[in-house]
Amino acid sequence: MIVLDELKNDNLIEKLDYYRNLFIEEKVIGFNKFSLYDTNDSGKYAVNASGGKILLDSVKDFIMHVSDCVLNQVVILPNNQHNGQERVFSQGHEKEYKDFVWYNIHSDISEVDNPNLAVCRLIGMVMDVFTCSSDYGKTFFLDREKMLQQTPDHIREWMKQIHVVGLIGQKHIDGLNGVDWDGKRWPLRNMPGIISHPVTGVDNFSFTSYKNKVIAEDMSLESEYREFIDDYLHDDENWMTWEWQEGKAVIWDNTSMLHTYSPGWKDGERVFTRLQGGFTVPHHKLGNL
Ligand SMILES: [Fe+2]
Repeated sequence: MIVLDELKNDNLIEKLDYYRNLFIEEKVIGFNKFSLYDTNDSGKYAVNASGGKILLDSVKDFIMHVSDCVLNQVVILPNNQHNGQERVFSQGHEKEYKDFVWYNIHSDISEVDNPNLAVCRLIGMVMDVFTCSSDYGKTFFLDREKMLQQTPDHIREWMKQIHVVGLIGQKHIDGLNGVDWDGKRWPLRNMPGIISHPVTGVDNFSFTSYKNKVIAEDMSLESEYREFIDDYLHDDENWMTWEWQEGKAVIWDNTSMLHTYSPGWKDGERVFTRLQGGFTVPHHKLGNL
């Protein structure tokens, strides 16, 4: 992870390769300031004929180039409130608080027609409103490439013959379908136990949430595998923390990172614009291992 002061939109085109390579190397880039919209000479937001703010073309170019996948598509979704779980964990409940954070780890699904197959490589958040305490609404990241490297050899070998089926985020499973908050159903996603990065080809631990199911002929190591996941995810050493303030932004590689958040904010206290780019189907570079 690297933190940069500002994404400067002047001459951004010339710096796109620099950001692309930095994203490959660091997987998470934080920005203390990130401008989404055009401003006029007096520093106020420029508006179009209907009074809406004007999105900078350079932002789209940035996402398109930095996400670097074959199926390039850029999505910018303002006004995300997310469910902040209004509950605030008081002193003496640190374990409960931590369990909440770790249990909610996931990688994001995309908004394309095949949500069971495709994921988005670049996910970004630009924080438009942040009025709660900086203890709340933090974002945490974990690197699944390092996780695979630290997996004991015999478990890694066993993982070559498993498939991981599952949902992400807060959705739940009913039979062979995933059920969304609004009741929409779609087939579950099925991925090899080890997947390769779509750009670098580096292998990573195929894990999208605690709701994953394992399918394999040989299930003998499943409990050892789950114990390793649990131990690895509960070790603070393996996590990176991003604290929010209004105007900050972060982009991360959703094809090799997990993320989660600390709860506690109330409606309207944490509002962000979500960025997405580079849709890809999780796979292993050798096909079936
Ligand atoms: Fe997420």
